[in-house]
Amino acid sequence: MRLAWAGVPESLMALLMCRPEYFGIEYEINPWMHVAVEVDHERAVAEWEELHRAYAGLGQEIALVTPVDGLPDMVFTANAAVLWRRHAVLSRFQHAERAGEESHWRRALTGLGFEVHEVAPDISFEGAGDALFVGDHLFQAWGFRTDEAAHAEVARVLDVESTSLQLIDPRFYHLDTCFCPLDDSTALVAPGAFAPESLDLVRARIPRLIEVSVDVAAGFACNAMPFGDRVVSSTAAEALRSPLASAGFDIVCVPMDEFMKSGGGVRCLSLPLDLAVS
Ligand code: ARG
Repeated sequence: MRLAWAGVPESLMALLMCRPEYFGIEYEINPWMHVAVEVDHERAVAEWEELHRAYAGLGQEIALVTPVDGLPDMVFTANAAVLWRRHAVLSRFQHAERAGEESHWRRALTGLGFEVHEVAPDISFEGAGDALFVGDHLFQAWGFRTDEAAHAEVARVLDVESTSLQLIDPRFYHLDTCFCPLDDSTALVAPGAFAPESLDLVRARIPRLIEVSVDVAAGFACNAMPFGDRVVSSTAAEALRSPLASAGFDIVCVPMDEFMKSGGGVRCLSLPLDLAVS
């Protein structure tokens, strides 16, 4: 069944984004956020626009969700849900500060033609921030935002196989801050962010890993979006230009300084919508 989203050619991947109209640091729910550090709003808008342009330049369609006053983190669309075919498992945010986003994500995803599911009420789950596919295998993380108990539920609802990974460094509190699948056999990974047994699971499943130091990953270099042989990431990913080139990928870097103040980068600002038939 085609998704009910008119005008988008079947072959196109599309992304869900949200303009940073109300973006700011109004609370502290990860180690990057400091209410005392002001966001330069104009710069944030310019960075977001540059990312939007980079995506358009790569031929991507962008769907926009309407930003909501009082929900400053809604700009991070990766946390809306995890999507697979026409199904969405909606986030249930660990922090009350973001819980107000859930009904907006539900409405937006329903409007895009997704069947929206939820995890049990007492479980926290933070969407594509903690759940990333390599081919049809789902990697899910626990340790900071998503409860380990969510993993089996998500895998069951989506009817996919899943591997659970434990995150151990609070700077890398979502999986997409330290792990980025680039194709079915290649991923960026910051080994220092994972419990050793979890890293073994990643190594066992993904033949080609491009290892990223925690220092480079702390510039949100792993928080990237791949499109074929192109990878869009933050300027910190310049450090990965040569290993990426050796693996056949070219990088497009966009400054993300203002969003990093909130603990986010390129990937957090983007939710890939799977428009393929299911
Ligand atoms: N300030 C946001 C939070 O702490 C940042 C979310 C980043 N999103 C992501 N997918 N890593 O929830």
